[in-house]
Amino acid sequence: MCGILGYAGGREATDLLLEGLRRLEYRGYDSAGLCLLDGPGIAVRKCAGRIDSLAQLVGASPVHGSTGISHTRWATHGEPTDANAHPHLDRSGKLALVHNGVVENYLEIRARLASKGHAFLSQTDSEVLAHLIGEHYDRLPPSPDRLLAAVRDALPEVTGTYGIAIVHADHTGEIVGARRGSPLVLGIGENEFLLSSDVTALVAHTRDVVYLNDHDLVWIADGSYQLTSLTRAQIDREVRKVEWDSEAAQRGDFAHFMLKEIFEQPASLENVMRGRLDWENCSARLGGLNMTPRELRQIDRIMIVACGTALHAGMVGEYLIEELAHLPVEVDFASEARYRNSPLDSRTLVFVVSQSGETADTLAAMREVQRKGLRALGICNVVGSTIARESDGGVYMHAGPEIGVAATKSFTSQVAVFALLGLLLGRLRHLTAPAGRDILEALQALPSQVSEILKYNDAIRAVAEKYAASSDMLFLGRQANYPIGLEGALKLKEISYIHADACPSAEIKHGVIALISPDFPAVIICPRDGVYEKNLSNLQEIKARKGRVIAVAHPDDKTVASMADDILPVPETHPIAQPILNVIPLQLFAYHIAVALGRDVDKPRNLAKSVTVE
Ligand code: G6P
Repeated sequence: MCGILGYAGGREATDLLLEGLRRLEYRGYDSAGLCLLDGPGIAVRKCAGRIDSLAQLVGASPVHGSTGISHTRWATHGEPTDANAHPHLDRSGKLALVHNGVVENYLEIRARLASKGHAFLSQTDSEVLAHLIGEHYDRLPPSPDRLLAAVRDALPEVTGTYGIAIVHADHTGEIVGARRGSPLVLGIGENEFLLSSDVTALVAHTRDVVYLNDHDLVWIADGSYQLTSLTRAQIDREVRKVEWDSEAAQRGDFAHFMLKEIFEQPASLENVMRGRLDWENCSARLGGLNMTPRELRQIDRIMIVACGTALHAGMVGEYLIEELAHLPVEVDFASEARYRNSPLDSRTLVFVVSQSGETADTLAAMREVQRKGLRALGICNVVGSTIARESDGGVYMHAGPEIGVAATKSFTSQVAVFALLGLLLGRLRHLTAPAGRDILEALQALPSQVSEILKYNDAIRAVAEKYAASSDMLFLGRQANYPIGLEGALKLKEISYIHADACPSAEIKHGVIALISPDFPAVIICPRDGVYEKNLSNLQEIKARKGRVIAVAHPDDKTVASMADDILPVPETHPIAQPILNVIPLQLFAYHIAVALGRDVDKPRNLAKSVTVE
């Protein structure tokens, strides 16, 4: 949610910042801006719209300098306009700030500053923050660390969240950064430093990074950097290597990142399972959980919290863990869990699931359970992300960077983690070795089965194009395939803007079937599993009301083929692994509908990849 990139070094920074912003654009894309310390002055260019609009503006009115900050915005306070775009200046016009997060007490600070004569040009909370820091700066005597001191003095007055980068016209070569609740990463290059909300913008320049923690301040100056806390304590933090290279974050020959990421799933599934299939014990190896078998056996309840797609993965996980380990599992929206007074005890194990590892509600829910003394484990993709660092252990997905706003490969990796977890917990309880072995075999076969589905891409596109004019769609499934239906509906909504809903197949009779008509098609997930016949009955109920049906089914399933209007083909596997296969055609289906409708697939309207505000 909003992207930040700053640069201080020996290179001309304008193009570098623009290029970095393009890599961050998936985080927010309603307006953008940059500023460079240009000789004795500060040059700001900003506008509503995408990075391309900013690049045009900079092309028409160039700026120079080798110290600068930049921002791509996802509006919270104030519409996406030129004035509300970042960077924002203080009253002196010499201090510029970019901000990610929400200043909750900005009205109060704004009123206080206004009474002292400050005039504001935007409706944003971020501009208030720039003025507040500027006010402190003006009060301080000249000193080499005056900018840092001003930031340190101002931040205790702020309630809310921030990841910020600040420059000042009198401090060429300097950037001050700070974080609370919004991510910030320092990139250490050769004689240069970068500061970003996301490593994606750094990997083209360096893979050596330092992740800031909440309440950290970073001061880049004189060709070096210093990390301190708000209370001035020096901080010594490890420099870490980013696993990804810049190529992994490129679109290559694919028309969209989303399509590339769908096609990466054979590899991302290999990666999530690498080293984790324990053939000797017919179980799974998840060392990162930091829990002994004895501790895992003592668990009598699991709670899973997440948002969006990650929540759907958790819902699939609920079925898988209950099936394999007979443990009660509860799944909740992180935004609800964080404010709920759910009875939790020391035998409850909490999993927080987050691709980015930065989602504000998920992070807050995790901190809430940790505050109550419970162990919270993370299932994350981004190495070094806040949830990954603050959790008590967990499982990395190793899916590589996911840029498309609509999550795809992260979902299948999350479900694979839950299958491994169910297997491990099951084998520590009643699951037999042969049953465990069957699951391992099914998991191992997944990458090649996903490749098989991807070969049907053209056929799936043809089906998608047939239904692209629909204004509504319904997704149905039973058991673990019900959340797969939810995920199929979410993909469609996010990127095509077609209204879609999902419910367990039999539930249609309790209301939803009233909507069925020839213009309201239904997608039913219909594998030949224990509830196959039941799903067939539901399919017939829709057909009897002249509804059109698209079935996710085996290509040789003649029964389904004779009933449904169209088939989205999937191979068959063990019921534990089947949901992972079933979601792939639904991802492609949504993708092709969005393309047919001319939507902006990778950057759908109103959305952002990483939601770091509440
Ligand atoms: C946003 C994204 C979704 C994602 C959700 C949770 O809404 O657009 O694709 O599922 O956040 O993100 P997380 O990084 O926590 O998995």
